[in-house]
Order: sequence, then structure tokens, then C-alpha cells
Amino acid sequence: MSTLTVNSYDIIYIFPKTTLPLQCNNSGVIMSLNIKEIRKDFPILSRKIRGKRLVYFDNAATSQKPIQVINAIKRFYEEFNANIHRGLHTLSQESSELYETAHDIVAEFINASGREEVVFVRNTSEALNLVAMTLGFHTLSKGDEIIISIMEHHSNILPWSNLAKRVGAKLKIIDITPNYMLNMEMLEEALSEKTKIVAITHMSNVLGTINDIKRISKIAHEYDAFVVVDGAQSVPHMPIDVKDLGIDFLAFSGHKMLGPTGIGVLYAKKEILEDIPPFLLGGDMIREVHCDLEGNCWAKWNDLPWKFEAGTPNIVGGVGLAEAIKYLKRIGMNNVRNHEMDLTGYALQRLNEEIGDQIIIYGPKEIEVRGGIIAFNLVNMDPHVVALYLDEYGIAVRSGFHCAQPLHERLNLKNGSVRASFYIYNTHDEIDYFVNALKEILRKQNS
Ligand code: ALA
Repeated sequence: MSTLTVNSYDIIYIFPKTTLPLQCNNSGVIMSLNIKEIRKDFPILSRKIRGKRLVYFDNAATSQKPIQVINAIKRFYEEFNANIHRGLHTLSQESSELYETAHDIVAEFINASGREEVVFVRNTSEALNLVAMTLGFHTLSKGDEIIISIMEHHSNILPWSNLAKRVGAKLKIIDITPNYMLNMEMLEEALSEKTKIVAITHMSNVLGTINDIKRISKIAHEYDAFVVVDGAQSVPHMPIDVKDLGIDFLAFSGHKMLGPTGIGVLYAKKEILEDIPPFLLGGDMIREVHCDLEGNCWAKWNDLPWKFEAGTPNIVGGVGLAEAIKYLKRIGMNNVRNHEMDLTGYALQRLNEEIGDQIIIYGPKEIEVRGGIIAFNLVNMDPHVVALYLDEYGIAVRSGFHCAQPLHERLNLKNGSVRASFYIYNTHDEIDYFVNALKEILRKQNS
């Protein structure tokens, strides 16, 4: 067994490495993903659902977990479990090192400057709430403006509408174009000296639309507005470079990128995190606390990122997320993106060819500006009924509003939509099976 080297960046490699699930040419250049090999790493994919093979197309809700992540979690509890930053004993030192290193691994993955810019939270929702509650209340006052879009997830709507109500600010909502893209002209017109925050999703969890965050960031910064990005659907699926995007905040969740639930990330520029107050108060986020018997207490905050991580954190979640990132890095995020573009293009083509006017698909037509998400409705069928039918075939999709009810209302979809969403382990063969299942469902429905 390999030994633990404290203070080594490679500490996480105490956990087993995988063979590369890639197909290379003679010079070692990656040609395509070896999906067959990748699938072997995901035990759940061999499960049967109602006697049928599982076809998991609900990746935008949560991804499945490779054995490497499952083993890392198990091994942490078997060999390293202790609270962090609270003990001089060996286990606590080792556990702290693993947890801290997980921040470094995330920082490198998104090209942040270092662990000080990476705050571990529970999920994207918590990260966005943190920004609204700290930056928002610290910076905004009556008459200021916050800009969001109609394609946002509830998590990137409600914290801002609440903040706006409480400080007397105005919430402006940018519409989509007929091709389901963000209306950039409307955004440019909405921006002004009053704009303090622009909070936009990188990839819509319904339409799959990929927004031009670099451009949004540039034009928002011309007005000195902060740019907050919901990366829940983009970070798991494409290369992300926060410096290149030029953004101030990025929120994402571990569970949508092969990691465990209950661990998420808020990236923010160091100077901003230094400036804004902490979100939650309590253990580990302070350096010192003093009280007198008159009831006066005062405290000095801890260094970044711990200033924003009050209480015992999700230590094993951090370890699991780090292992998930290593898995994704071995595959290569460009390969992940290319595979999903290929699957989405194939699925759109097959759905149009085979189901034609019996299906309505939402989202941009151009594959370059959409992720591996296809929201649709079958004509005259309730989306929940379609999802239940698909479950009979062992196909997992999500139905309803997908936590984006305002978008569905904008599209006049009273019952929502069905959503199929892909990841690294999905195949063309699964898409064929899915298209055939939809054809059969329509046949039954119309007979
Ligand atoms: N936000 C997740 C989704 O889109 C849960 O399904």
C-alpha cells in the first residue's frame, strides 16, 4: 500500500489510480473516449431497472459515481477519519491535509489562483445564497440594480429577488431569443451605472444554452458590476478557466461531476472574499474570539477560505470531489465536451428523423452553443406520463419544471417538459434505445 506523504500535493494519490479510459494513437494523442472502459468504472450502470438495462439520462440532476470516488470515500472513513484543524494527533493532521489539498485540486481545475479562492459549501444553491447574503448586503442599497435572466434555475433567482426586496434594489430579468439564446441586446440595454450584480447561468439546465460568459463579464465590468456565474451545468461538462472568463464568482456542485452529494464550491476572487463579511459564524472560521461579562464579544476571522467555512465541514465530501476531478482530468475536459456534443447532435438528429412532428424540442439548434441537455415534449402528452413510461424501459429522465418554472412559464409550458441529459458514460446505442422507446410510447398513446 502506498504511504501518506503529508505536505505533498500528491497526497490524494493514496487512493488508487485508474487506467486511462482513452483511446490513443501511436503518438499518445487522444483520439476518442473509450466509453466501454469508462462504463466499467460505474457499478450502478450494470443495474437492471424493471428487468431492463439502466439507461441513465438524468445527469443534469446528478451524475453517477465511479468506483474510484466510491473507494476514496470508503478508504477515508476506514483509514483517515478525524475532524480537521482541531487536533495535533496524526489522524487529524492527515485528514486536514486531505481536505486542504482538495481545495488545491479544485483551484487548479478551474484555474483559480489558489485555495484561498475556493470555498467549500453544500451545493450551488448554498454558494449563490452565500454571495447574495454577503456581497449583496455588503454592497447594495436602495435604487441599485441586479440583472439575471429568465433561463435561470430557482437558485439563481430567489436569492437575488429576496436581496432586491430587502435592500430596495431592482431586479431586471433578461429574456431569451426565439433560438433560446440569451438576448444580448436586452442585456446591453439593461446595464447601467446602477447595475451592481449580473448573475447568469453558464449553461441552462433546461435549454442546454451555453451563455457567452466572457463577453457578459466584459460588458458588465465596464459598469463595475460583479459577475456571478451559476456553473452547476457547465463545470462538470467543459473546460473552465475563471481567469479567462474574467468572472468574480462561480458556483457549482460536486454531485453533478462524479462527486458525492453535499459538497459544492464557491470560487471568488481573493480580494473580494477578503473584503466581504463571512456568511455563517462559528467554529473554525475565526482566529480568536473574546467576550466580556457585559455581553460584548468580538472576533478575528480566519484566513481564506476557512473564513467562509464555519463548523465541521463535509470533509469526506471534499475528498470525494477531489477524486472525481482527478477522474475527469484523466479523461480531459475537452474530450468530455466533445463526447457530449457528439451525443447531443446524434440524439437531436435521431429524434427529428424518427419522431419529427410528434416531438417539440427546446434549446438552440447549433450544437456549439448547447450542452448535453435535451428538454422536449411529446405532442399531447404530459411530461410526467412520458417520464413514467420511459422508466418502464429502464430509462431515467427528469420531468416537470426542473427548478426553472419562470422559464417554463415564459415558454408557455404549463406542465413543464421532459429532460434527457448526458454524460461521459452515455452511448449512441442508449440514444437509439431511447428514441425507439419514445416511438413505442407514441404508438401506444395513439392506438
Ligand atoms: N438542478 C438540478 C436539475 O436541474 C437538480 O435537475
